[in-house]
Amino acid sequence: MQATLAVLEGDGIGPEIVREAIKALKVIEKKFGHTFSLEYAPFGAAAYFTHGSPFPEATKEICDRADAIIKGPVGLAVNEMRKIPPEHRPEIGAILPLRKRYDTFANFRPVRLPASLAAFSPLKPELVQDGIDIMMIRELVGGIYFGDKTEGPATGMSYARDDCVYTREQVERIARVALAEARRRQCRLTNIHKANVLATSRFWNEVVEEVARQEFPDVDLVSMLVDNAAFQLMKWPAQFNGVVLLENMQGDIITDQAGGVLGSLGLMPSACIGPDKGYVEPAHGSAPDIAGQNKANPYSMIGSVAFLLDKCLGLRQEAEAVWQAMFQVLEAGYVTAELASANTPADKILATDRFGDMVADRLAAQ
Ligand code: IPM
Ligand code: MN
Repeated sequence: MQATLAVLEGDGIGPEIVREAIKALKVIEKKFGHTFSLEYAPFGAAAYFTHGSPFPEATKEICDRADAIIKGPVGLAVNEMRKIPPEHRPEIGAILPLRKRYDTFANFRPVRLPASLAAFSPLKPELVQDGIDIMMIRELVGGIYFGDKTEGPATGMSYARDDCVYTREQVERIARVALAEARRRQCRLTNIHKANVLATSRFWNEVVEEVARQEFPDVDLVSMLVDNAAFQLMKWPAQFNGVVLLENMQGDIITDQAGGVLGSLGLMPSACIGPDKGYVEPAHGSAPDIAGQNKANPYSMIGSVAFLLDKCLGLRQEAEAVWQAMFQVLEAGYVTAELASANTPADKILATDRFGDMVADRLAAQ
């Protein structure tokens, strides 16, 4: 296969973790006989300072002509971010516009911890000893994130307002994605909502249940209030094994909590898929406090590239090879600093680049 990939390294730890993901991609290229042309482009907070925009026009053009996009985390330290006008900060000025531009409505966030790595989790061993294998699917271009916003005293009274809107079409398409994914994963779907309070949640449930009944009668659909889901996730995460469906804002929060259950946000890759194009990104931020220190965990970024192979380019076997290589490194006892415990031998704690090298080596040796 020949594919053009836009590479947006982002800020903070972005460049160093993207570098390791590209190492894995190069091995895949050689091993499976593909050609990936990489086009690097500025994106994020640093891009605002160098190019006047966190999502410069030239970057948009590169993304438009790419088959898929690899995106690192964005954002700088608080005092740097303060120098950027709010509309040019990377969340509002880059990430949301990127999602909107390619209508990447389906955000896949795997929450995966094989039994052999259960010790990474801060939960009691008996709660995670059988491993966790949940695919969280978050709606990414609707809801309160994209509703109208009002700030300031328009009528003399000071207030702010964010509208939360979901249309039938928006809910139907994400429900279909989640239900289809559930067919590949034990036919179990947990639908998360706040229907005891929110009209959008009641509507969401109605549409999800209708699509399930009419098109996926074989999928076992369970609905759960979001506050209870937060509690249940800590109590017994494996009850969610299969697929979990969430709207945008609830999904943002619960997927970070899931990173906590795994023991590190560095274990949270993600893929954002639209009708024609997708991009991948780790589910975490740019960790400016450890940027440039060669100690960030590149797992989320390498896993995101595995996701890109699978979900954007249809290269399933290649994706699986990357996952296997990563799990082999972890199962051999190697970790990055944030996953180390008091009992981890010093020679098993890897720097970012060493972790990436090991993954690339195992991949090449497979
Ligand atoms: C995420 C992030 C983004 C979100 C921010 C940076 C806009 O937290 O991808 O989870 O809220 O969606
Ligand atoms: Mn988030």
